[in-house]
Amino acid sequence: MRVGVTNLRVKYAGASELLFNDLTLHIEKGEKVLLLGPSGCGKSTLLQVLSGLIPAAVPVPMKVEEKMIPESTGYVFQDPDAQFCMPYVDEEMAFVLENRAIPRSEMKGLINTYLDKVGLHFDDPHVEIATLSQGMKQRLAIASVLSLEPDVLYLDEPTALLDPEGTKDVWETIKKIDDDQTMVIVEHKVDHVIDFVDRVVLFDDSGTILADSDPETILSFYKHKMKEFGIWYPGIWKEHEHGLKRETKNALSVMTIEDLKGFKGKKCLVELPEAVIHEGEWIVITGENGAGKSSLLLSIMQVLKTTGDVHVDGKALHSIKEAREKLAFVFQNPEFQFVTNSVYDELAYSMSEDVQNRVTTWLQNYELLNHQHQHPYQLSTGQKRKLSVGTALFGNQRILLLDEPTFGQDAKNTFKLLEYFEDLRSKGITIMMVTHDPNIVETYATREWIISKGRRVSDRNVNRGEEAVVHAVDS
Ligand SMILES: Nc1ncnc2c1ncn2[C@@H]1O[C@H](COP(=O)(O)OP(=O)(O)OP(=O)(O)O)[C@@H](O)[C@H]1O
Ligand SMILES: [Mg+2]
Repeated sequence: MRVGVTNLRVKYAGASELLFNDLTLHIEKGEKVLLLGPSGCGKSTLLQVLSGLIPAAVPVPMKVEEKMIPESTGYVFQDPDAQFCMPYVDEEMAFVLENRAIPRSEMKGLINTYLDKVGLHFDDPHVEIATLSQGMKQRLAIASVLSLEPDVLYLDEPTALLDPEGTKDVWETIKKIDDDQTMVIVEHKVDHVIDFVDRVVLFDDSGTILADSDPETILSFYKHKMKEFGIWYPGIWKEHEHGLKRETKNALSVMTIEDLKGFKGKKCLVELPEAVIHEGEWIVITGENGAGKSSLLLSIMQVLKTTGDVHVDGKALHSIKEAREKLAFVFQNPEFQFVTNSVYDELAYSMSEDVQNRVTTWLQNYELLNHQHQHPYQLSTGQKRKLSVGTALFGNQRILLLDEPTFGQDAKNTFKLLEYFEDLRSKGITIMMVTHDPNIVETYATREWIISKGRRVSDRNVNRGEEAVVHAVDS
């Protein structure tokens, strides 16, 4: 069946302008369509309208002349952990099949059929979901929506939180789904999907369609538009002109770690026997999903229960409060970080001087001025992320801990943030950043730590661009 809207207008409460001004889009049965556009242009909103979530489950004022919404839809979200109702794989699958009134006798066979479609093979599918990798969880989420036999499958950045391995697995899985399955896809990591889709719909930042054509045409004729609006396209990193600054020589050590272990209950999640970290270093922390990267940052921040020592400027950290005075922290999930009810207040919260001026300048620079009165939860994924980074950077701390600060960001904001971090770094700020993006490691890091199974398995200086790295020396 076809799915689509004619002359759609959406007006979020509190928003000053319409999102979509008479947007018309129709998708034919079996088509694979990629929606591409800058952060906040309305991609997620449109997916929710096309799947009927808006307004049925999420009441948002909208006007539409005509709409064709399929009866049965499957929706895969970013966060693998937020999509399951049951603790075990077989129970999760059975839960969906029960809703379809499938008789018990057929269930076992069907569960295996759908798990097979996504390449998940268990001797016995009574496996705890919590023990699966993030990539496997995301494939399970896809198996569970496929078991709904959906007319249309909607995917909203299904790999945003996954490591490169998981990302590859999930896209390979999606590519093997039946040819006649209609799919509407939102994905910033275009390299993985561009060859798979039949059609790309390109949006500008106000949600107006700039182009709607096959991928070759879009990439051949609309690259300048993608560049103008800061949308990812293949090869963009090669064109990115970064302003790397000179290394700081004889850098002072700012943090030392000894015998650090971070626990959840009695279980040790991560350990780091020793580390000396210097002014002006940009340490990138990589490793597969579940390796312990976030746990390491949370241990340094004293959020987890820890043993061992973290010293900053010669002072031992014993509590979150002490850690926060010395270390600025950006959580992996931006929502954990928000403490006020508006974008403006969120930024103003940790400031004492020249507040209005500084906040307004930042909002303008990061294109959030129109959203200053909105609740932080009402922002798009990319906008939330920008805000969480912004709030962390307004303190006077000299060390920044960032947990995947660029996931779900469009190209424009990614490069803007990275250049901002580089500028801070060149002034002596120290950056410790978890990321899955090998381009960031190659271009910006001065040092890379690889974490595997809760331990640091590699610590190396990185040769940034053409610059020679001067090894940091204690003085
Ligand atoms: N509940 C809400 N209330 C008010 N405004 C909202 C709400 N949800 C989204 N918006 C606004 O609607 C616009 C479109 O948001 P949407 O989440 O659809 O963008 P997106 O294209 O998916 O962005 P991203 O790439 O960052 O995920 C944004 O400007 C956002 O701030
Ligand atoms: Mg979105």
